[in-house]
Amino acid sequence: MSSNNDFFVVRAEEDGVNVIGLTRGNTTRFHHSEKLDKGEVMIGQFTEHTSAVKIRGKALIQTSHGEMLTERE
Ligand code: TRP
Repeated sequence: MSSNNDFFVVRAEEDGVNVIGLTRGNTTRFHHSEKLDKGEVMIGQFTEHTSAVKIRGKALIQTSHGEMLTERE
């Protein structure tokens, strides 16, 4: 995992989008929630502590796997 340098990008398409980090390891729990308002961008990585990310609200997401929206109009 230490060799994973990939970033993901989240751009909020409405106010109050949450980018929630989930822990790596035996238990999977929320460890951080970042609130983005419309137009705000978060650039993040998966780390030793973060195995998954959950995004709540309307947002554009870019990863090395492609680009997607959490929801459509
Ligand atoms: N302290 C967290 C970590 O190093 C910070 C973090 C990294 C994070 N990627 C994240 C928080 C994605 C939320 C979502 O793992």
